[in-house]
Amino acid sequence: MRILLIGNTGQLGWELERCLAPLGELNACDYPDIDLADAKALRQLIRSCQPQLIVNAAAYTAVDRAETEPELANLINASAPEVMAEEAKKAGSAFIHYSTDYVFDGTKGSPYLESDLPHPLGIYGQSKLSGEQAVKQVGGAYLILRTSWVYSLRRDSFVTKVLQWAQGKPPLRLVTDQLSGPTWARMLAGATSLVIAQGKGNPVGYLSDHRGLYHLAGSGYCSRLEWGQQVIASYPHPEQLAIHEISPALTAEFPTPATRPTFSALNCDHFTNTFHFQLPDWHLALKLAMES
Ligand SMILES: NC(=O)c1ccc[n+]([C@@H]2O[C@H](COP(=O)([O-])OP(=O)(O)OC[C@H]3O[C@@H](n4cnc5c(N)ncnc54)[C@H](OP(=O)(O)O)[C@@H]3O)[C@@H](O)[C@H]2O)c1
Repeated sequence: MRILLIGNTGQLGWELERCLAPLGELNACDYPDIDLADAKALRQLIRSCQPQLIVNAAAYTAVDRAETEPELANLINASAPEVMAEEAKKAGSAFIHYSTDYVFDGTKGSPYLESDLPHPLGIYGQSKLSGEQAVKQVGGAYLILRTSWVYSLRRDSFVTKVLQWAQGKPPLRLVTDQLSGPTWARMLAGATSLVIAQGKGNPVGYLSDHRGLYHLAGSGYCSRLEWGQQVIASYPHPEQLAIHEISPALTAEFPTPATRPTFSALNCDHFTNTFHFQLPDWHLALKLAMES
């Protein structure tokens, strides 16, 4: 099976490259070798690789900057996935794409289902929702995996930021009124590759049979404060940290250009019931990430 992975230096893409390598002949690329804002170059890349499976881990993920760069966010998060879906469908290939919990406004108060109505609060969430809609509209053998609060230890993420802040001066304060499910990039990549492996070398037939939108995130949810506390508690070198206590704060105390949803945890039952495996609890995944 020929696989084209786009975005292999991102948090998720880096892990995907390692998980996908045993599944086929892998061709991986990222910006600046491919610029998703250039639809013509993207089509050329796909046609020259002739993949049976395209996996798109690239995205415009700068949630605040997107408020002032809506055109670019839309080109990368909406137009580019549409091109990938079109090229995959034309060539009879399969396509896996990722989306975000920020498609929701956070007012539901319990974990969101795939059937809940999206209502993004910012440009990033809106651009990702447009990408989902475009991929669905094209059809074919596609999976859209909506995830939340992705982190890794090798690129800047909330986890690495908490560790940096904890080496600085007190006080360290984190918000209690943003809740979702922390998702380790390696867990997300592993779950994706397990789904592909279930297709036994025929991703088109398998993804065609299971096409659609799935929520896929770390199991359970927490506030940013609880997440930060757990980061500090599970850090294997506590002697390197100057701060061991984090105080509660409210989002309103830290104004940002983009509004975040207050509660955007995802219910992943559809994914686990369809593909028959468990998603690790976010505490366990964080502990494993810290030990990696
Ligand atoms: N991070 C989160 O908390 C989160 C939450 C929910 C959903 N998601 C979704 O999960 C997926 C993976 O996210 P992630 O956290 O792994 O993202 P990430 O670490 O920000 O990686 C995104 C990748 O996309 C590349 N990229 C950006 N602009 C590009 C362009 N014009 N052309 C080609 N590549 C470009 C980036 O390259 P550069 O590094 O060179 O810019 C980077 O390698 C995305 O679909 C994202 O929307 C993420």
